[in-house]
Amino acid sequence: RAASTSLPNIILIGLMGCGKTTIGKELHRETNLGFTDTDQLIERQTGMHIPQIFKIHGESHFRDLETGILQQLQTAAAQSRIISTGGGIIIRPENRLLLKKLGFVVWLHTDVNILYQRISRCTNRPLLQQPNPKAVLEHLMNERHDFYQETAHLTIDTANLHIHEIAFGILESA
Ligand code: S3P
Repeated sequence: RAASTSLPNIILIGLMGCGKTTIGKELHRETNLGFTDTDQLIERQTGMHIPQIFKIHGESHFRDLETGILQQLQTAAAQSRIISTGGGIIIRPENRLLLKKLGFVVWLHTDVNILYQRISRCTNRPLLQQPNPKAVLEHLMNERHDFYQETAHLTIDTANLHIHEIAFGILESA
């Protein structure tokens, strides 16, 4: 169908591996709205890969870059978009406000065991390059759970749902 102008920006949040990119691309196909990934924008604008940014400049600098991207997206919102975000974008209170102002925020809530199965073989996530990545995920979920919850307009428990069901649920509520 034609790009829908009646939809707001749809912003996907959640821990690494929860399906933000997969669902984001599915929503992009179904709506014809543009697809934006905050991690990709950061890589494009800095000319660096995320692990490099963490290593050279540290996590706090990366969080500054995320805030900058959210500010750019606020002013660039001529047409609605599907926006996939980095898992930690909700850590800073100013980012939570910016996200909520930017559009309809969806938390793809996913059990840590499922996340672990999906991403245990990835090497491009600096926060998981530790001896016990599952414990790290559990810790991140505990730390971030309430931030995801307070930022999201809609929470979807993705555990037993097919990609199409998740996309449908989001478009129905947006
Ligand atoms: C991070 C998640 C990553 C990326 C960076 C930090 C996090 O994005 O932004 O490695 O703090 O959870 P994904 O959630 O897309 O993996």
